[in-house]
Amino acid sequence: PIQNADTDPHDRQGFAHFMLKEIYEQPEVVRRCLATYLKPDWNSDRDAALPATPFNLAFPEALFAVAEIQIVACGTSRHAGLVAQYWLEQLAGIPTRVRSASEFVSAPFPLTTNTLTIAVTQSGETADTLAAIEVAKKRRSQSDVSLQSWSLGITNQPDSSLTKAVDYTLPTLAGAEVGVAATKTFMAQLVVFCCLALAFAVRRRVLSPQQLVDTIAALRLLPDQIETTLKQQHEPIQTVAQTFTDVKDCIVLGRGMNRAIALEGALKLKETTYIHAEGYAGGEFMHGPIALLDAKVLVIAIAPAGNVYDQMLANAQKAKTNGAPLIGITNVTESSDRAVFDHQITVPAIDELLSPFLTVTPLQLLAYAIAVQRGLDVDRPRNITKTLIH
Ligand code: AGP
Repeated sequence: PIQNADTDPHDRQGFAHFMLKEIYEQPEVVRRCLATYLKPDWNSDRDAALPATPFNLAFPEALFAVAEIQIVACGTSRHAGLVAQYWLEQLAGIPTRVRSASEFVSAPFPLTTNTLTIAVTQSGETADTLAAIEVAKKRRSQSDVSLQSWSLGITNQPDSSLTKAVDYTLPTLAGAEVGVAATKTFMAQLVVFCCLALAFAVRRRVLSPQQLVDTIAALRLLPDQIETTLKQQHEPIQTVAQTFTDVKDCIVLGRGMNRAIALEGALKLKETTYIHAEGYAGGEFMHGPIALLDAKVLVIAIAPAGNVYDQMLANAQKAKTNGAPLIGITNVTESSDRAVFDHQITVPAIDELLSPFLTVTPLQLLAYAIAVQRGLDVDRPRNITKTLIH
């Protein structure tokens, strides 16, 4: 069952919890976002000179020439911003900074000209994020230098306070999200950010036609690949979850773009299962935190094929040597690698650049399954509300 304009988002449609329903809605959410942000009639002729932009993004030309992008957000939305930082820097070559909205309020980025400030918030009402946008606007209006700048909101609520505060809004089109743990809205934020980064890359002529064509073709495969992940991995993940229902500590490791997914996976575990979980960059983990490991600490290594694969595997080996039980999330299936992981969750093959779209879902499912096995109120975890308005 899929939520569309005609279905009531407050109906669980046979799913045991909203969180699970919303995880299962992700293929459709990605389809919907791509249908909105990608031009359907775009000509993907590989031999053409750099093609016209394939994206439906109506920004003024000057905005595409920004010198810097600053992203403010909280929680899961900040993690989407951290993935986007990689795309904006590595794909489009735009220096990008990300700061927690609550930190930005007391320590804003230095004022720079030609800057795009992006606020990301599912609800569009998170007090810290709204405050950050106000601080950014106030500082610019009080500056004696005339600073060319723009603000953009990425939100699932097009009529929210955020949209009134920013120059432009890109809606995430995920439909209402009822579970307190953000899942499908995170996925939608990634799609919007990826299209945005690609649109910048095209305008700034830093992407070859071939790269663009290949990346768009890969984006179009995503809904089916997420569906495949759900179909093939849900049951195995439930079985793995049984082994770790009583675990007290968990470390999630990722590198590059998947460092942000490690943070997001750890956040999902914390808020739904109450397990003490931390996300780390694989390399940084070696500089001290590895001392935490013993046979009682679960390690999850996000190891997609690509530049960081060998290093992630080395991190995983090290964790294993230190006695930690190990779950691997990977799309590499050679038998020698299987031996490293006690449990392997396999996701479809994908370019490393887009791998966050596929590595996050197993972590959502794992958090969900452990929370259910612990008998917890998955949709309404203790101590938190869906939107932090003060
Ligand atoms: C996500 O699972 C959390 N419930 C929380 O971190 C959330 O992402 C954060 O409060 C920000 O919310 P927003 O996207 O509505 O601004």
